Amino acid sequence: KKSQAWSALFSEPMSELVQRYTASVFFDKRLAEADITGSLAHAGMLAAQGIISAADLAAIQQGMAQIRREIETGQFEWKLALEDVHLNIEARLTQLVGDAGKRLHTGRSRNDQVATDIRLWLRGEIDLISRLLRDLQAALISVAERNVNTILPGFTHLQVAQPVSFAHHLLAYVEMFARDEARMQDVRKRVNQLPLGSAALAGTTYPLDRESVARALGMVDEQGRPCVCQNSLDAVSDRDFAIEFAAAASLVMVHISRLSEELVLWMSQNFAFIRIADRFTTGSSIMPQKKNPDVPELARGKTGRVAGHLMGLITLMKGQPLAYNKDNQEDKEPLFDTVDTVRDTLRIFTDMIGGQPNAQTGAREGGITVQAAAMRQAASRGYATATDLADYLVKKGLPFRDAHETVARAVKAAQQQGVDLAELPLETLQAFDPRIEADVYDKALTLEAALNARNTLGGTAPAQVQAQIARHKARLSAG
Ligand code: ARG
Repeated sequence: KKSQAWSALFSEPMSELVQRYTASVFFDKRLAEADITGSLAHAGMLAAQGIISAADLAAIQQGMAQIRREIETGQFEWKLALEDVHLNIEARLTQLVGDAGKRLHTGRSRNDQVATDIRLWLRGEIDLISRLLRDLQAALISVAERNVNTILPGFTHLQVAQPVSFAHHLLAYVEMFARDEARMQDVRKRVNQLPLGSAALAGTTYPLDRESVARALGMVDEQGRPCVCQNSLDAVSDRDFAIEFAAAASLVMVHISRLSEELVLWMSQNFAFIRIADRFTTGSSIMPQKKNPDVPELARGKTGRVAGHLMGLITLMKGQPLAYNKDNQEDKEPLFDTVDTVRDTLRIFTDMIGGQPNAQTGAREGGITVQAAAMRQAASRGYATATDLADYLVKKGLPFRDAHETVARAVKAAQQQGVDLAELPLETLQAFDPRIEADVYDKALTLEAALNARNTLGGTAPAQVQAQIARHKARLSAG
């Protein structure tokens, strides 16, 4: 019992196992909407060029409308024997409208069809992911706005380094996600190009108007010029656009993963800098006191999965001779899983960090709880203002290297007494350098002084941080 599209030549049917091995319909049916959109654009052009009749076009349009409804309502019967989404839809079309359905594939191959479908589908997902990246940035900014003057220790080597504004810390992630968004938009330019019209590999004998198909599918550049793949062999066979997307998606996840690591650390009792809402944590089946940050931990773990898909796609491509090879069917599951993972992660993180917008005020609530006192206390330990004391001495004429040495001795003395630099009496400090005066406490040794002093572009001074928040908000509302 055979129902494949190329039956005439074959003398024996595939085994059930080989059918399942070669079929893609149970995952590529996700491309159905893109497939129908692409087919309608192709058919419209065939009719405009006089390759099929207006009556055939009308029949195809009507048949596709019915197929859309069947798919939406779950009534469409997907058949394994028909291998993939393309053959399933075409077969159903022919069942519904007869010969017109059989004319749809004129001047087309599944090779240029599938490449077009993936690009159309991926373009939509890139737009959605870009929006979700903006939502996450907005969530981070909403927390930042409330925490410009919240001070925590900044770390290098995970050792206390210098005090920073918590808003400044969050805005570092806003920068990362803004670059991710820009990267997605850049990838989009190369995704949004039309393979259709390349047919199997060499182009086609019919007088196709590829540029009109590109326009119909919105595959145009910023000036509205159609974007058409210019070499048929390349158009049907390369998936570098998918690899680029997977690379951009991997970077999104790398940034999510870094943030996750910090959230997990900050949640730990030994930091206690933040709490995340209970709906993002789970308990322990044995330890009654536990509230574990499962969501950030899982996101950190899923980063490996997305990076793995990037490796999978690169490896998939590397040995393929021109032009199309069936290897390319293996691009779909990694791409689908990448999109699903990134989408879900971004949505969950937006809610976990910033909470939900209040229906009345629009302000977000229910995100992370900031424990400013714990942050402050941690910033006050670990000699985070030692650099400021050195800078204070430099301003009084000491060369920086000498100041560095002097302060190192002061830190050692404070450590031996188990106190902070600001807790050393003035006479003790003056013993290290007589230029130290009573103003040292306000000018150098308080956390606020340390922050305010870093008032250069990109620095952590509240004035700078406010300016960055304003810049990001303007950027995000410009849309
Ligand atoms: N399902 C196939 C894919 O995903 C469609 C293209 C098949 N083309 C072919 N000549 N076998 O790549």
